[in-house]
Amino acid sequence: MKPKIFVTRSIPGRALEGLRGRFDAEVREEESVIEKDELIRRIKGKDALLCILTDAVDAEVMDAAGPQLKIISNYGAGYDKVDVAAATARGILVTNTPGALTETTADLAVGLLIAAARRIVEGDKYMRECRYEGWGPSFFLGQEVCGKTLGIIGMGRIGKAVARRMNKGFAMKIIYNDKLGASAEADREFGARHASLVELLKQSDFVSIHTPLNAETKRMLGEKELALMKPSAVLVNTSRGDVVDQRALAKALKEKRIFAAALDVYEDEPRCPVELIPLQNSIVMPHIGSASEETRSRMSGMAVDALADFFEGRVPQNAVNREALR
Ligand code: DGY
Repeated sequence: MKPKIFVTRSIPGRALEGLRGRFDAEVREEESVIEKDELIRRIKGKDALLCILTDAVDAEVMDAAGPQLKIISNYGAGYDKVDVAAATARGILVTNTPGALTETTADLAVGLLIAAARRIVEGDKYMRECRYEGWGPSFFLGQEVCGKTLGIIGMGRIGKAVARRMNKGFAMKIIYNDKLGASAEADREFGARHASLVELLKQSDFVSIHTPLNAETKRMLGEKELALMKPSAVLVNTSRGDVVDQRALAKALKEKRIFAAALDVYEDEPRCPVELIPLQNSIVMPHIGSASEETRSRMSGMAVDALADFFEGRVPQNAVNREALR
């Protein structure tokens, strides 16, 4: 009998075709976030789940599936919506899709950094509102990017890809904070230096967040931390919304205690905090860090390959809780 798989959302590329041949796959076709009660209903009796990064997969969902559920393949690098401890306790392997989206997400972070510094979104809006009355020496001044200091929080794959672009392309000085400590590769490649979070926030002209969301990083930047940043500083977040206290951020932006912020992610997605909407010095994007055709197809391939590997007796390369197999 073929393993039974529930897929919560159609995914780009051709990977699902392969899945349909090899497995008894039930693919939810609706282009909407699955509600928990539907997930609980449809996962019943399945051996595997392919979910997207915004699906909350907790112990209740796992138990609703039944004891035959053996693998959860998370379409996305961030797997903070999957209760990994609950999965491990039940012998369920969890996999993700890192690597596939590194360069794409780094591109967006850089785009947002420059857009916020040079007020690109605000300028576009200004023109469309037919408010431009001519060039002026003090008109629409932003922050220079080239040669400034970039503080990177989380020097993993994406953090390094951002550091590479900004150090090699924009001669930026790189400092970083990572829970794993100094990275010899980052220090060698970009002349980067590990710093405490406090030092990073005080010294950086730009701060870009690339840390995964977990108990340690939740609300890592609150009112106190934001108060350490320079009034000319720009904050970019393409990781997870919960890393920043968004109300505190909106307040800092409103009071012009920092220059600007550009966000791709929110604490309570898909809701964007209402406080941010009227602020000209904020850019808000709909979580599109990895949204290129090529990347999303690669992610599909990885998510499906993890299932194929598992059911053909191999340990998937991107297992996040190998201990579940013991
Ligand atoms: C991920 O994969 O975790 C990213 O947030 C996708 O944009």
